[in-house]
Amino acid sequence: MIVVDTFAGVREHGDGVVGLVPTMGYLHEGHVSVIAAAMERTDTVVVSLFVNPLQFDGITDLKTYPADLERDASIAAEAGAHILFAPSVDEMYPEPQLTIVHVDEVGAAMEGERRPGHFDGVATVVAKLFSGIRPDVAFFGRKDAQQLAVVRTLARQLSMPVEVVGLPTVRESDGVALGSRNTRLDQAARKSARKLSESLLVAADQFVAGERLAGPLTATVREILGQDTSIAVDYVELADAISAMIVDLIKGEVFLAVAARIGGVRLIDNVFLDDRTGLADTGSMLTHNSILYESKSCS
Ligand code: PAF
Repeated sequence: MIVVDTFAGVREHGDGVVGLVPTMGYLHEGHVSVIAAAMERTDTVVVSLFVNPLQFDGITDLKTYPADLERDASIAAEAGAHILFAPSVDEMYPEPQLTIVHVDEVGAAMEGERRPGHFDGVATVVAKLFSGIRPDVAFFGRKDAQQLAVVRTLARQLSMPVEVVGLPTVRESDGVALGSRNTRLDQAARKSARKLSESLLVAADQFVAGERLAGPLTATVREILGQDTSIAVDYVELADAISAMIVDLIKGEVFLAVAARIGGVRLIDNVFLDDRTGLADTGSMLTHNSILYESKSCS
């Protein structure tokens, strides 16, 4: 694997069908599974690593976002990536960014409503990655379900010749969806965080048993989360997988999403429910401790 810090460097080394796995680093098994999917479908797998200041709501969240290039390079190389693109802020934003990509409606509810400007930041940096790297296929985790809908919309509506693929969430062995913010949970918060996936899994079972209305499904999640007073629920919503519009009834594919603050850490999670197959995508579960908690470079 080579490490490059310029768009030109990536384009110079990309051969055949190029796959892009955009990340903000601090890689974990969720990223590793996305890289593995990219390896199966493409000839050159590029992992981008850039903590995008444009998409953070607060300077504290940005400053406390974990960063360790050596660690990430080691994990990406072991996962089989060919190129690690780790640009500086100057390479990504060499001048004041006057062109902002705004995906209306898809990015309006849920995360968009609670984190104003967040999806503009995401859409802008993803558009830059797509035009600077020119991947044939780009791979994203389904944990960020609304982000996936935003990215699909921008690629389609800006006529970008890239296929956007969404991949199942990977969970820690206790069910908590993998995310770098999990490292900030103390023991008590960690125990409470399990309730997020527990509640979604119960609702997913309800769906598989035939429930198609948003009301009973969101009520199940709220009821389970309500049992723990340390969980401050931000939202529980059922949304269309493509448009990210909130729906009352499941038609086609939807996601049941939850966001909550636990012990000062904001977590999101979801399950995808597909009316056409009657199946739920709840993701996969690790059987071991995540590499998130391993210290420094994992060779
Ligand atoms: O999901 C993420 O890690 C980020 O939002 C992304 C897509 C890499 C854009 O900065």
